[in-house]
Amino acid sequence: MGQVSGKVALITGGAAGIGAACARALAAEGAAVVITDVVDEAGQATAAAITASGGVCSYMHQDVTDEAAWQAIVDAIVAKHGKLDTAVANAGIAVFGSALTMTLADFRRQNAVNIDGVFLTAKYCIPAMRRAGGGSLIMMSSVAGLRGSAQLAGYSASKGAVRLFAKSMAMECAGAGDNIRVNSVHPGIIVTDIWKKVTTPAGGGLNAPIDPQQLGLAAPIGKPAEPLEIANGVLFLASEASRYITGSELVIDGGMTAGSVRRG
Ligand SMILES: NC(=O)c1ccc[n+]([C@@H]2O[C@H](COP(=O)([O-])OP(=O)(O)OC[C@H]3O[C@@H](n4cnc5c(N)ncnc54)[C@H](O)[C@@H]3O)[C@@H](O)[C@H]2O)c1
Repeated sequence: MGQVSGKVALITGGAAGIGAACARALAAEGAAVVITDVVDEAGQATAAAITASGGVCSYMHQDVTDEAAWQAIVDAIVAKHGKLDTAVANAGIAVFGSALTMTLADFRRQNAVNIDGVFLTAKYCIPAMRRAGGGSLIMMSSVAGLRGSAQLAGYSASKGAVRLFAKSMAMECAGAGDNIRVNSVHPGIIVTDIWKKVTTPAGGGLNAPIDPQQLGLAAPIGKPAEPLEIANGVLFLASEASRYITGSELVIDGGMTAGSVRRG
């Protein structure tokens, strides 16, 4: 028996990075996984690789900001696997730069994916989870949702919103007695392609690429995380091992929010 055997999981933004690692971890531990994303080729390749290694995984196209398509996605998962009891609201983007130069359009574009997408995940997945008799809803926030950083105000605002949205939905579910737990996950610096895709308010690329390997050296643990390290936390929150945990924050940041260390 795997840690999540018999569970059916949706992972948004699952084509690459942390979402793909979550898909691999959940499938390896027995869940039937559906990943959705806007990058179809990568999504199909991720699902095919998991299937080839013996897991149950499929891919569907989904822009998490598109409310009109959400119900059909959830219905298709339930039609295929009989239920939905685990959802990882992982899709996210990063627009860096000062709020003073950020356009309102960029601020809204970032919020649309990072918080509207999480809101829609809850809105459309919780009713299906209730029909399944319970579940675990996991929302991807960030250390940027726990503390402020210059040049990250817009991103932090979106991730801070995820943190309290998760707690409020946890209370709503607990109050309803529906056996659904809701938690947020707060990664620190993780080696994924999000760092290559970071855009500035001007809409272009950065003057110099952001290297997560370099940034991660500043974490007390002395290095960045790999996506698997976040996926392991998501696996725990999806499993029955975390059955008394709701409205909680799982911080996986190598000590970044705990303090700082002197080296040498
Ligand atoms: N990498 C880090 O250091 C880090 C740190 C803290 C939090 N996070 C968060 O973790 C999550 C995953 O990030 P990642 O680092 O794996 O990034 P990534 O860019 O590697 O993966 C994100 C995925 O989301 C998809 N996506 C983007 N917009 C979408 C939309 N509208 N609909 C559906 N899918 C969409 C992308 O195509 C991509 O496959 C994000 O929410 C991110 O903010 C990442």
